[in-house]
Amino acid sequence: MTDQTLYPVPERWAERAYIDADRYAEWYRKSLDDPDGFWGEQADRLDWIRRFTKVKNTSFAYPDITIKWFEDGTLNVSANCIDRHLADRAEQTAIIFEPDSPDETPRHITYRELHDQVSRLANVLKERGVRRGDRVTIYLPMIPEAAFAMLACARIGATHSVVFGGFSPDSLAGRIEDCRSTFLITADEGLRGGKPVPLKANADKAVERAAAEGVNVKSVLVVRRTGGTVEMKEGRDLWFHEEVARASADCPPVEMGAEDPLFILYTSGSTGKPKGVLHTTGGYLLYAAMTHRIVFDYHDGNVYWCAADVGWVTGHSYVVYGPLANGATTLMFEGVPNWPTPARIWEVVDRHGVNTLYTAPTAIRSLMGAGNDYVQQTSRKSLRLLGTVGEPINPEAWHWYHHVVGEDRCPIMDTWWQTETGGHMITPLPGATALKPGSATLPFFGIRPVLVDGEGHALEGAGDGNLCIADSWPGQMRTVYGDHKRFVETYFALYKGKYFTGDGCRRDADGYYWITGRVDDVLNVSGHRLGTAEVESSLVAHPKVSEAAVVGYPHDLKGQGIYCYVTLMEGEEPSDELKKELRDWVRRDIGPIASPDQIQFSPGLPKTRSGKIMRRILRKIAEDDYSNLGDTSTLADPGVVDNLVGNRQNRR
Ligand code: WTA
Repeated sequence: MTDQTLYPVPERWAERAYIDADRYAEWYRKSLDDPDGFWGEQADRLDWIRRFTKVKNTSFAYPDITIKWFEDGTLNVSANCIDRHLADRAEQTAIIFEPDSPDETPRHITYRELHDQVSRLANVLKERGVRRGDRVTIYLPMIPEAAFAMLACARIGATHSVVFGGFSPDSLAGRIEDCRSTFLITADEGLRGGKPVPLKANADKAVERAAAEGVNVKSVLVVRRTGGTVEMKEGRDLWFHEEVARASADCPPVEMGAEDPLFILYTSGSTGKPKGVLHTTGGYLLYAAMTHRIVFDYHDGNVYWCAADVGWVTGHSYVVYGPLANGATTLMFEGVPNWPTPARIWEVVDRHGVNTLYTAPTAIRSLMGAGNDYVQQTSRKSLRLLGTVGEPINPEAWHWYHHVVGEDRCPIMDTWWQTETGGHMITPLPGATALKPGSATLPFFGIRPVLVDGEGHALEGAGDGNLCIADSWPGQMRTVYGDHKRFVETYFALYKGKYFTGDGCRRDADGYYWITGRVDDVLNVSGHRLGTAEVESSLVAHPKVSEAAVVGYPHDLKGQGIYCYVTLMEGEEPSDELKKELRDWVRRDIGPIASPDQIQFSPGLPKTRSGKIMRRILRKIAEDDYSNLGDTSTLADPGVVDNLVGNRQNRR
């Protein structure tokens, strides 16, 4: 079913790009044969305060996982992203801010201004008692202050935890509690598609809930974005602009060890609550900077736009850290792709002369659905390279992106990676890799993908399997914050000696990789990760629900939709009102991204005799694939399945 059309590297790309096919082959070989030599040289991309003497100290031998890179080196991330550029490019724009409304004037922030803002903010944090190693939670919309806040933490050695502005007060509270964060940076309101998002009000609720769990947020710094009315609590809440204006603009960057924490980012797993993925300083920054430079072939003067939110890892590595470490001009867009019209993205491209656009297949599909006129009424002549991330891109969307958006001129970098990996892992390079629509193509330098079968045997040649990585790379997460055992068990226990990604994957006869999606209970909804367990535990917390099972099913726009099987408490009646109530409940509890697409009431769920829910069967029914339900004779009550199928078919 896959599209095997090959798009060879255009000659002009092979000539001008940093990496052509020969160099890719040579560097890739060296990166595997001599990782110390390879990464030792690549590390010159960063400014070190004290140069390391050791490069790689890693082992995936279960259960003693060791991941250390450049361990005796020291550096500061904010100095690498700002200070070192001041000599050459102080007046160059570091950040272009494109506000939600096209009628509001964009902002251009130079590297000098970035230095000033970040230093002042870092001093505010220090004055308010934030120390090296303390956790600072950032709950902001896509505004430059989000980048300032991340970099200010890095400047003083505090560990930031950015929480996506679309998450609910409860989700925010859970993340504040987990890392025992005592400082919060938020805004009065966010703005998305002309609608305000009550960030400060959410933050107030979250702070209250965290306090009830014994975690006391001492200060809340509030950016004034919309000017909407908010309550400011005396002694706790401070206006960002007032504090920053009074603070000194002189704040020397702190010398950090390469293995000191840089940030925590919570992400969904197959079980339990979201995990705090911990990234450290040296290896992460090097990997983000190098992949940004090489995969997007970034050259001085280019205007680069990654449309992800800073609340996700893509925003960390490819809106903030990678581009700024490279002295790039990075665009931050506050709004949404289809407001005020589906032409917005292309208008922003024209307005700012964007050369590189990096976005998600779900956005591409929805803009494709709006029709070509919106695209074709804009010029897009500045575009030279396109990127996608977050989920497999279907060939139809790939072709549209390539042909209609990029007018066959722009290669598409389909980058496969994860919150855990810090940066691109399997990806084309524009001057080196022939493209196949829907394939993330080949591994980046230093990455050793392995496909294993259910027993963990590595497959040779072409075939389908579970995607593992055989050896460490500098951008790898180091632990789950506060729960190292969970880190070891989640990623290294199943297939010994390897990092398990949770993804299924096929390798074709040319050695190209095709990601087929998660093989665990993680959903990918519009490119956002969500654990089925999170939605289930939200549903069963509702007083009328006795049991719930959640699975993904193919969804035209979102990639995957959320399908919920719900068993009600004795005496409760199924109804459409109750469906709506449950939908609103989950939205409020987790956030709008977790909103169930379909709810099916079912008096029972298919379980094995030992009480395990047979998700495989539930997935098939949600996909309307009844031919292949497999052996149901091992179920405790096989009649449950007939009942589920009957109910589902009646509703079609
Ligand atoms: C999926 C986002 C196919 C995959 C950077 C992975 C992809 C999960 C691709 C990580 C891609 C990401 N092709 N699938 N190009 N990129 N994925 O942690 O299932 O939010 O495991 O990181 O997204 O999602 P996360």
